[in-house]
Amino acid sequence: GTTPSSDRGVFTPGRAAITARHLRTDKWWLSPLVSAIALTIFVVYATWRAFANGDYYSAPYVSPLYSPCLASNCTDMNGGADWHIFGSWWGLSPALLVLVFPLGFRLTCYYYRKAYYRGFWLSPPACAVAEPHATYSGETRFPLILQNVHRYFFYLALVVAAILTYDVVLAFRDRDGNWGHAGLGTLVFVVNIALIWAYTLSCHSCRHIIGGKLRHFSAHPVRYRLWGWVGVLNGRHMLLAWSSLVSVGLADLYVYLVASGAFDDPRFF
Ligand code: FES
Repeated sequence: GTTPSSDRGVFTPGRAAITARHLRTDKWWLSPLVSAIALTIFVVYATWRAFANGDYYSAPYVSPLYSPCLASNCTDMNGGADWHIFGSWWGLSPALLVLVFPLGFRLTCYYYRKAYYRGFWLSPPACAVAEPHATYSGETRFPLILQNVHRYFFYLALVVAAILTYDVVLAFRDRDGNWGHAGLGTLVFVVNIALIWAYTLSCHSCRHIIGGKLRHFSAHPVRYRLWGWVGVLNGRHMLLAWSSLVSVGLADLYVYLVASGAFDDPRFF
């Protein structure tokens, strides 16, 4: 081996005196690489759509990236959730007003933190692979200490999920607003909201809020039961994080294709 030239990572004084950077022989880099690529694709797509300021509504569907509408320069959404508290919003894209909530929820999510700390910051890139950074302060200092606000984003995410659920109910209409109809877009929306709820309720903060700080589960049978259900979802948090991210992108893409006239929503009944 070579003589270590730095005192970083495994070469810090006090670590075992081996020169190899790590001893893993598997494809440990694959998972952080795939995470970084997939997150980049989503961020590029979502940024384009968030700033597009168009093709986000086609009766009866409103893109989940644009709901609720908080500005009066929104497309008329025919009964959709619109509270125009931001006036004309200088003509800017109304998505910019609401995306901060799901964005903050996902950015501070325990799973996404793992994914982007590994994929983008290599801090560390994988278990038992030392990071390239000289110092490590974890999440104890600014700005990463702000990750602690995750529990509050969880409450806001509940509101977002409730509003998106309302949009799914509205999707059971035809293009003229008559109830009791459904198209392919309705199905896309139902799958998307199911995944969003499953992801939101599988949150680690949710699990703690429901079952944490209890001395005796026997004295809280309802919370114990809810905690068990949430725990089942929580065990699949990574899977739900990715599947709900993909479904939200696809639901938006569906609305975009229909609203821009590239595709006609097939009606089932
Ligand atoms: Fe992932 Fe809360 S931990 S959403």
